Amino acid sequence: MTQTATLTRAEALRAATHDAHERLDRTIMAAKPFDSVENYGRFAAMQYSLHHHTAPLYARADLADHIADLPALSRFSAVTQDLADLGVALPDPGAPVGDLPLPEALGWLYVIEGSNLGAAFLLKAAQKLGLSEDHGARHLAGAPEGRAAHWRAFKAGLDGAPLAPEDEARVIAGAVAAFDHARGLAQRCFA
Ligand code: HEM
Repeated sequence: MTQTATLTRAEALRAATHDAHERLDRTIMAAKPFDSVENYGRFAAMQYSLHHHTAPLYARADLADHIADLPALSRFSAVTQDLADLGVALPDPGAPVGDLPLPEALGWLYVIEGSNLGAAFLLKAAQKLGLSEDHGARHLAGAPEGRAAHWRAFKAGLDGAPLAPEDEARVIAGAVAAFDHARGLAQRCFA
């Protein structure tokens, strides 16, 4: 038995995307997004493009079958409002994510929902710029029940979706594609 066979789906995703997360984190932080409100605006524009791209996932009935309150989890309207707060023009966000099969869609959703965990740290940094959950940094706010509780509930839904064993690799491929997409957006927004 390989080691991954003993991991939950969420644990396997975390392990498989660790390096992709590091690369994205480094790409974003290299642009010093928390050094000024102007730099933060570029980060918010990147987040807008990412949440625009992935917004269709939150309207999918097949994902909502597994993830509780899925439509309410979308942070797209929050980040749209953040750009308005900051006076940043909406960037051309590109095309929304295509009609992904369920395994890949679960991997993408893992990445977008997981980003709200790290957002605790990002919100603290944004607050030092005078931004808040009510102005400019709405999309970094935690879930009403708390970030950790929300993440546990999300992972339970993710882990509970029944998939064929051979589809597990497709969940991971979806997550890796999501991280790559986010890094491409970061490179464009910070260029
Ligand atoms: C500079 C920007 C970022 C920093 C500093 C950062 C930092 C972090 C930190 C510290 C955690 C762990 C939180 C915890 O365990 O309590 C985390 C988790 C996570 N972040 Fe980020 N993050 C950043 C950007 C992003 C972005 C843009 C995405 C997605 C597009 C993302 C996706 C994730 C995911 C999926 C997890 C959950 C990992 C798991 O436990 O399974 N992060 N991040």
